[in-house]
Amino acid sequence: MGISKRIMDMKFSEIRKLIPFANEAKEKGIKVYHLNIGQPDVKTPEEFFEAVNNYKGETLKYENSQGMMELIESIVKYYKEINIDFNKEDIYITNGASEGILFALMTICDFGDEIIVPEPYYTNYNNIARLAGVSIKSFMTFREDGFHLRSKEEIVSLIGDNTKAMLITNPGNPTGVVYSKEEIRLLSDIAKEKDLYIIADEVYREFVYDGLEYTSFMHMEDISDRVILIDSMSKRYSACGARIGMMCCKNKEISNEFLKLCQSRLSVSTLDQAGAANLINVNKEYFLKVNKEYEKRRDILYEGLCNIPGVSCEKPSGAFYIIAELPVENSDDFAKWLLTDYNYKNKTVMITPAAGFYATEGLGKNQVRLSYCIKGEDIADAVIILKNGLEEYNKIR
Ligand SMILES: Cc1ncc(COP(=O)(O)O)c(C=O)c1O
Repeated sequence: MGISKRIMDMKFSEIRKLIPFANEAKEKGIKVYHLNIGQPDVKTPEEFFEAVNNYKGETLKYENSQGMMELIESIVKYYKEINIDFNKEDIYITNGASEGILFALMTICDFGDEIIVPEPYYTNYNNIARLAGVSIKSFMTFREDGFHLRSKEEIVSLIGDNTKAMLITNPGNPTGVVYSKEEIRLLSDIAKEKDLYIIADEVYREFVYDGLEYTSFMHMEDISDRVILIDSMSKRYSACGARIGMMCCKNKEISNEFLKLCQSRLSVSTLDQAGAANLINVNKEYFLKVNKEYEKRRDILYEGLCNIPGVSCEKPSGAFYIIAELPVENSDDFAKWLLTDYNYKNKTVMITPAAGFYATEGLGKNQVRLSYCIKGEDIADAVIILKNGLEEYNKIR
């Protein structure tokens, strides 16, 4: 009997660890505003449900391991519209981007290999990397730079004999950074010079604000055989529960081997794939509307935070998160206190302590990640609660 070292080395989700306290607050009748999780409140397009309801099969069979062909074809079409040229055989449907990242790491890395990631980074990468037996080496990016890249030398200095890939999230979670074309070029050059893969996590591609141009790693044609593109329906179509992601790669060596992993878990949910395949028919207006809505929410949150004494943050350009520095020593304690000991007019806020997004011990202790996935008026109310909460916490702590 016993528990594996592998599982003991993994951690419970930093994003979800305060949920029991939020549930207790709700049981006491307190309204909790969720600024803690990237769960969009925008309605999933009707097209998804229509296709699920119209599913004609009499038996819910396994789909093929690569994925449902109608879905794959719709994804090829989607990419063509954004000037990315994938063929059907380049695309593998996964259980969310999460499984895509795990399978990508398992396909290109051996136990003990390393990947390079800009810090702070999406905290689930830690567990996914541990599952694959891969170590993360991170280079720092800073709030005052808007989390943009500082220098090529620093990134290159981390690359060793066991480094297999750079894992790059663009737009960034938790940072909200959108890398410029020059930054994507710089990372592409490093990949070429040092013979690395790029695992490009582009699940927030549609969430770019201020009229910024988005550059995908797949727009760098000279490295297209090095790019493993990870994508998802979760955020794009507000369909997190569908668990439909994809791994797209023009390098046949990778995709042929990737199939072994897809076969080992047989297939992804047939009904969810049927629903997702119809999302290609969503009117393009949807993206414009959703994008505008998130830009508005970002502005409400950012401006609200700027008006709280002692809080500092940079205006993010993409995704739906802000990293904010709070006038507290321990944001973990503050986040818990907001749920267990505080309410303002019977309402409180759930926030995510940022330390879990940093690999470097001690960093992020006075920072939190706030998401702006809830309605603008609720965000405005949540900011007032946060402001009052900070005042009260600092009086008593
Ligand atoms: C950067 C990033 N990658 C991947 C994922 C996982 O997405 P999926 O729901 O497709 O598994 C998330 C979810 O929040 C994310 O923020």
